[in-house]
Amino acid sequence: MRHLQTVADMRAASAEAARAGHRVGFVPTMGYLHAGHAALVAEAKRRADLVALSIFVNPLQFAPSEDLATYPRDLERDRSLSQAAGVDVLWTPANEDVYPAGPSITVSPGPVGGILEGAIRPGHFAGVLTVVLKLFNVVGPAVAVFGRKDAQQAFLVRAMVRDLDLPVEIVVAPTVRDADGLALSSRNVYLTPGMRETALALPRALEAGAAAFRAGERRAGQVVAAAYREFAPAERAGALTVEYINVLDAGDFQPNHAAIPTSFLAAAIRVGAKRLIDNVVLGQGLDTDPRVAASAPAAQAARGAGA
Ligand code: PAJ
Repeated sequence: MRHLQTVADMRAASAEAARAGHRVGFVPTMGYLHAGHAALVAEAKRRADLVALSIFVNPLQFAPSEDLATYPRDLERDRSLSQAAGVDVLWTPANEDVYPAGPSITVSPGPVGGILEGAIRPGHFAGVLTVVLKLFNVVGPAVAVFGRKDAQQAFLVRAMVRDLDLPVEIVVAPTVRDADGLALSSRNVYLTPGMRETALALPRALEAGAAAFRAGERRAGQVVAAAYREFAPAERAGALTVEYINVLDAGDFQPNHAAIPTSFLAAAIRVGAKRLIDNVVLGQGLDTDPRVAASAPAAQAARGAGA
């Protein structure tokens, strides 16, 4: 594995890959890597000749009140995890190199950038899309892999690629969970055992909603109600706050009244000062809906190959 630290070195490496006719796969991250990130690398490896993983804690996507200063960082650990995951190029650019003049021109995420996560974290998605576009411009990937755990982020990255004609294929990979059901997240390291216990209501609630869907419930309100029952006792006790829980259409990210097979159930909760987000897909729609399965033929090929 090569470890590059500057924008110039990464640009040179991708030019070299292009000259060699290599397809570059890209996994952008903020580090403190876990098995969810490794799964994205595995997915990228199936679709590319060479995989680059970036670690950059992007100040532009953190509000002043958020945890930029305390975001977990451990480069040595990340290097060994990257190596073990099969990363070919680890790229860890410095803030001054990414934003030499400070951020000025940014990407506007449109209306979907202002709802749900965007309503709670104003400016967040402008920060995410701006850095993702910049990283794409340096790495020049043929394919980039994102996690479905951050469904709104993945939706907006896809929308940016479509609306701004970026020459990159976006693949969205399933959420990797711990044995207890909690979705892996770099920020989980800050949950005390008690908070973690409380936080488990999130995957439980989503699973309860999905179970209602599997049992035939198609009214979004009822799917949400089934999920909400898992939150209610802890919320009444003041142990958690539900920020939102919605059935969303995977095609346009708008709240759905009917839990059709192209939708998913997404929620955000607060446990103490910690926020957690998660979602589950309802039905098999995401793989078949042409609006969201831009990479469906490749996904089917990968599955057919036993991946
Ligand atoms: P970060 O939170 O480090 O996540 C990097 C990628 O890993 C994202 O695509 C995210 O959705 C995915 N991911 C996180 N947890 C996952 C899990 N449990 N299972 C599967 N995938 C998971 O998301 C960001 O960084 C940043 O916003 C970034 C896109 C890098 C822009 O700064």
